[in-house]
Amino acid sequence: MRGIFITGTDTAVGKTTIGVHLAKTLRQNGQRVRVRKPVETGCERLAGSDALQPSDAIQLRAAAGITDTLDAVCPYRYEPPVSPEWAARLANCPLAIGDLHAACLDGVGSDDFLLVEGAGGFYSPIAQGALNADLAAGLGMPVLLVVADRLGAVNQTLLAIEAMEMRGLPLMGVVLNQVAQPENPFLDNHAELQRWLAAPVIHQTYNSPASPQLTQWVQKWLG
Ligand SMILES: Nc1ncnc2c1ncn2[C@@H]1O[C@H](COP(=O)(O)OP(=O)(O)OP(=O)(O)O)[C@@H](O)[C@H]1O
Ligand SMILES: [Mg+2]
Repeated sequence: MRGIFITGTDTAVGKTTIGVHLAKTLRQNGQRVRVRKPVETGCERLAGSDALQPSDAIQLRAAAGITDTLDAVCPYRYEPPVSPEWAARLANCPLAIGDLHAACLDGVGSDDFLLVEGAGGFYSPIAQGALNADLAAGLGMPVLLVVADRLGAVNQTLLAIEAMEMRGLPLMGVVLNQVAQPENPFLDNHAELQRWLAAPVIHQTYNSPASPQLTQWVQKWLG
């Protein structure tokens, strides 16, 4: 089974946005895509119901065009907008990393291309005593790092990549994502990151379709 663990330097850097672009691009290239967002916090509660809406999982599932139930894509959901580990503690039911690991693989076939989105940043706590990094390492999947294209991106990217190297995790590449309209004409994070990194860096511009480089990546990954 092929797959990618989508992580970020932080929360709200565009992991889901890039995950959606990737799922669509993989499908266009003939892949059967499965998506997992094993735990999501900050879920909205539907009026008059106990059901929690996992918006990331809903977007990823739609992009993958799969019939998997939302419970299969995102079995662990919490309302408070805090880390999953903390949300589970608040619910008095600690979350085990093994359960998240199992949720990522449950129902996924050997011919599927699996996209897993973590929660928060690479070192955000995701389960009892476990970070996103531990889930990625346990799954043994190559990692795609999403970084918000703003001042500080170089620092955050280099820190995250060093953490991945410490754990021996393969880095597929970095997506430098414009989460907002660029305002600083002096900033060129793409050029800076390329100077510092051997890994490929692609740029996703604000409010645009998937970067053509993403398609090239996918075609390269698929051989
Ligand atoms: N390239 C982009 N162009 C326009 N808007 C974007 C882009 N990337 C992200 N956004 C917007 O920024 C916000 C955060 O993006 P997104 O939800 O993908 O981040 P995330 O890393 O998945 O967040 P979380 O940590 O909550 O899972 C969303 O409102 C999204 O629509
Ligand atoms: Mg997300």
